[in-house]
Amino acid sequence: MNYKVVLLPGDGIGPEVTNAAVQVLKNVGSKFQIDFEFDEKLIGGASYEAFGNPLTDETLDACYKADVVFLGAVGGYKWESLPHELKPEAALLKLRKSLGLYANVRPAKVYKALVDGSTLKSDVLEGTDFIVLRELTGGIYFGQPRGYDESRGWNTMVYDKNEVKRIAQKAFELARLRNKQVTSVDKANVLEVSQFWRTIVHEVQKDFPDVELKDMYVDNAAMQIVRSPKQFDIILTSNLFGDILSDIAGMITGSLGMLPSASLGNKYALYEPVHGSAPDIAGQNKANPLAAIASVAMMFHYSLKIPKAAELVEEAIEKTLAQGLRTADIFSEGCKLVSTDEMTETILKNINTIFVENPVVV
Ligand code: IPM
Ligand code: MG
Repeated sequence: MNYKVVLLPGDGIGPEVTNAAVQVLKNVGSKFQIDFEFDEKLIGGASYEAFGNPLTDETLDACYKADVVFLGAVGGYKWESLPHELKPEAALLKLRKSLGLYANVRPAKVYKALVDGSTLKSDVLEGTDFIVLRELTGGIYFGQPRGYDESRGWNTMVYDKNEVKRIAQKAFELARLRNKQVTSVDKANVLEVSQFWRTIVHEVQKDFPDVELKDMYVDNAAMQIVRSPKQFDIILTSNLFGDILSDIAGMITGSLGMLPSASLGNKYALYEPVHGSAPDIAGQNKANPLAAIASVAMMFHYSLKIPKAAELVEEAIEKTLAQGLRTADIFSEGCKLVSTDEMTETILKNINTIFVENPVVV
């Protein structure tokens, strides 16, 4: 099978982790008879430098023609004072909106080898495995009116019925494949838009009577994620709340450098590590490639629909961590500090060994 992947390495450590992801894609693809055809394009600050525009039509057109998009990271100090529409982040938002990627899946799961590496206690973490399902193309990120003048700044948090319905449906469908429990997170005690969200989510739940639904206020949810994360299966929430809660969830895994994501729509899909462009360590071969590599696992799972390939990548990550390899962000006493390249090479080796030991008949 031939599969077209558009690569958007972006800024900062984006190119380094994208390079790691490509090596893993090629390796695993060859084991499952998939030929990846890569098309690399600029996005974010890199695109602004080249064209004065963080997302060109050329990049967008390439994405429309692809089977799947992989993105590294966008942003950096250099572009922080640009007008809003020229900022690297604006490119990511436009891309999400243009491709209709309304469902952002951010899994927070504990890797056994890292359970002592987190700032959270291991008995709190052990067994944690939940997904933050973030609405990605609506809410305050896109609501009109928006702007600022000399005396005021304003944004609008707005959701229409269909936007809430489709993300709620996705949450219940995902929950059915897992522990059948959805926690819908909102701020219905203060915000009308949240009250509306809550009403629609409950309406949708009537079609999924086998899935349990709880409501939780966002401030409480932030506390519960660090107090007792095991209670969650699917956290369903809006764009802004999901942005914040998924960073908190990153600490479940010990580092944002471990958190992968999938952004899914009806037609397109984009995979990206949740961590940003980390300009302070860019180009130094220090970045943790595991979030990008775990995003490849998600690609095999959600887009290519080859769960065995996804498991192979996941197992290689577990094994490499169990062998004690750590990039700086997850380093702890007694472990081996490695570079981006060393981590990636070991992952590739472990993929090969695991595959030879447990051959998968394709
Ligand atoms: C994320 C990021 C983005 C967001 C930025 C870079 C626009 O923080 O994907 O979580 O706010 O959605
Ligand atoms: Mg974020």
